[in-house]
Amino acid sequence: MSDQTRDLPFGIDFGGSGIKGAPVDLGTGDFAAERVRIKTPKPSTPEAVAGVFAELLASFDDSTGSVGVTVPAVVRHGVVSSAANIDASWIGTDADALFTKATGRDVHVVNDADAAGLAEVRYGAAMGRGGLVIVTTLGTGIGSAILYDGVLVPNSELGHLEIDGHDAESRAANSARTREDLSWQHWAKRLTKYYRTLEMLFSPDLFVVGGGVSKEADHFLPLLDISTEIIPAELRNKAGVVGAALYASEGGG
Ligand code: BGC
Repeated sequence: MSDQTRDLPFGIDFGGSGIKGAPVDLGTGDFAAERVRIKTPKPSTPEAVAGVFAELLASFDDSTGSVGVTVPAVVRHGVVSSAANIDASWIGTDADALFTKATGRDVHVVNDADAAGLAEVRYGAAMGRGGLVIVTTLGTGIGSAILYDGVLVPNSELGHLEIDGHDAESRAANSARTREDLSWQHWAKRLTKYYRTLEMLFSPDLFVVGGGVSKEADHFLPLLDISTEIIPAELRNKAGVVGAALYASEGGG
């Protein structure tokens, strides 16, 4: 690792199947070295995951910069306080403290969708866009990031809005599409209902749609019947790592 790379912030994306990390060049919003991926341990308790973070960081032996970590949960000042799609033992964990101790690095934990939102507004689809931007990630759950003039309002959790008596993500996440084998048309109807509800509540200027399925945006975004501009995310599977590093570079929350 070169002298310039050593001090760069490091991003870790903690997902259901893999834990990915790389140092990030904040000038370009890209990885400064090849990304490393390690399988997510099962069960993915905070302690088990902390061990993987230490292993991952050890493969970048000279890296010393601060570390940002995404978690698919509410995170307030480093403490995790929800666990919709992760092991229940995360609730109440001071993840900043646990990971800082396990890795010997300065670690800052951030909600996964908030990290994606920060990355998209700084380097991606929402770059240079003022006003109210809502970034949603469609995956196992629905994550959300609210940004006003580029400033994040953290932990919005709009995937858990109750719509027609259902937790919205249980009907409209990408996991619902695959689980129920929905056609793009059928899924688009559910997404229309979801995004119309967000329109009614927030009157945003722009929606950005992330998550793995955003690479198939052509199949479903044109089918949505809403008034607000809606565009696919651009950072794809780099958004978590880049957004986490960005978050850490700003000293966390
Ligand atoms: C969680 C959010 C997370 C989203 C996407 C939801 O179930 O409550 O915190 O951002 O899934 O992973």
